[in-house]
Amino acid sequence: MPDTASDTAPGSALGDDLQARAAALLRSTANDLKRNDRDAEADLSLAPGAFAEYTSGRRPVTWELIERAARVWPVNERDLLPVRDDAPTGVRVCRAKESAATSRVIERGGGPYYEYRDTAMSRLSSYRPEWIRMLRTVDDDEPGNPAVEWNKGHLLYQFTYFVGPVNYYHEWEGVRHCVPMTTGDSVWGLPFGPHSFAARSDAEPAYILALTYGGDLTGDAQREIAALGTDAAGDLALPSGADGALLASFLRARAMSEGELARRSGLSPDRVHTLCTGAGRAEWSELAALAPALGVPVRELLAPSTRARDGVRVRKGADVRRWTYPDARRPSYRIAELAGDPLHPHTSALEVEVLTGEEGPPLTTHQHQYAYVLGDAPVTASWTRDGRSHSERLEPGDSAYAVPGVPLSLAAPEGGAAPRLLLLRIRGAVTPDVRFALGAMAADGIDRYVAEDRLWY
Ligand SMILES: [Fe+2]
Repeated sequence: MPDTASDTAPGSALGDDLQARAAALLRSTANDLKRNDRDAEADLSLAPGAFAEYTSGRRPVTWELIERAARVWPVNERDLLPVRDDAPTGVRVCRAKESAATSRVIERGGGPYYEYRDTAMSRLSSYRPEWIRMLRTVDDDEPGNPAVEWNKGHLLYQFTYFVGPVNYYHEWEGVRHCVPMTTGDSVWGLPFGPHSFAARSDAEPAYILALTYGGDLTGDAQREIAALGTDAAGDLALPSGADGALLASFLRARAMSEGELARRSGLSPDRVHTLCTGAGRAEWSELAALAPALGVPVRELLAPSTRARDGVRVRKGADVRRWTYPDARRPSYRIAELAGDPLHPHTSALEVEVLTGEEGPPLTTHQHQYAYVLGDAPVTASWTRDGRSHSERLEPGDSAYAVPGVPLSLAAPEGGAAPRLLLLRIRGAVTPDVRFALGAMAADGIDRYVAEDRLWY
């Protein structure tokens, strides 16, 4: 997607906004290391008064300064680099013609296989959403069809929405599968499962919206684990549904024996052993005794279970749950629940039909939001941010990214068929733990967390 003029090229001076956040990070880092201005100036070989100029934003933070700090202090360059905000109005729109301008043909097996087009992306979120047209046509549903070219699977999670006669091929643990899909069908897949797509007909459009996203797997977690190594990553991995492994890891974390936990919780030592080894699952009453004995919330003792089969969850459009929102008496939207998995409780894939010409109630969420206009009808999106109102008419094929918390209202500007949108909402780096921590901060804590501007003592 083309960048807007407000974007800053790598290597150039940071923009004003970015500069202010870089200044706050530098102050915050010096605070964490218990360096006042004079100490920081000595460490970083700066002239007296220079550190305050950097942390107040009067002097721009340079890459050279960041490198020097990373050499002298036990921090990473990354810790001092703010993210770029490319959605300052709260929503970033990618027009269908901008998507078309990114069109490129991907070859597989020596011939054209897919046409790829970028859709709305933002530096604030891990979406890598592509519109992909199938250029290979097959005449059967055989997973072993030699015309099908497979990939090796990828790290990013993939939610896929299907339009037209598309075969979905996926492989898990050496076994290949083919699922014939049609408009409205969707699938959610775990990382690293090889997959492919092909059209069953070239007489009608056959494409997918392949909405890949890293969620919390990419970013800091991946960088930390890459440094720790494969063995450590294997030790950190928790199997789906493994309540026992969670309990055992809390015991190790607290250097507590099973006997001590039994004594504190009132459960028998045998029962604690059974739960820690995963040979049995705790009853609610037992969880209510174990959690305070460990000093943790009950939810920390409950492992999520994936419901993926062969690495994927397939939802056929004909079978999905549908309801009206906000309520049945005055419905503004009809919602359909697309593919998802309990392993990702903060991911929601929805198809939204906009039922009225009046602005509906805002579809506000704690998640990042991606929207793609399906079908043939345009939609009006309205929202407010920082006291300013915005409105955009989105045509079919347009897509948009909205930051968390934006009160996005939708309306059908024209009569006729109801506009339809695909929404994929994902959690960013702000986990529930972070949200609870924000909620527990002292009065001016959130302001300082967002932009630390002072010495901490
Ligand atoms: Fe993929």
